[in-house]
Amino acid sequence: MSELPQVFKHHVFMCLTQRPPGHPHGSCGTAGSSKYFDLLKAKLDAESMNGEIGLSSSGCLGFCTAQPLMVVYPQGVWYRPQAPEDVDEIVESFKSGTIIERLAVVPAR
Ligand code: FES
Repeated sequence: MSELPQVFKHHVFMCLTQRPPGHPHGSCGTAGSSKYFDLLKAKLDAESMNGEIGLSSSGCLGFCTAQPLMVVYPQGVWYRPQAPEDVDEIVESFKSGTIIERLAVVPAR
């Protein structure tokens, strides 16, 4: 089997799962993940980074207590943005190739 081509420098998957209010697991949707998804998309558009950074919505990533949650590959780092400014910082980290420790829920391996 041949290797898949490296399409993106980074690929972000953001959980947009929406569970009803009061659900025992909560959900990233109720924690505002769609707002962060839209902010990230707009920032990538503004920076003309769509060709190098993939952005995809995802279902539950299985770590609902960390909501709202995104995972960034190839690093495999999981981020929990808490403010719109965090999205700007995440985009800057794509440029610099760094990890934002304060936003990392699960550190990169
Ligand atoms: S609902 Fe987002 S990780 Fe489970």
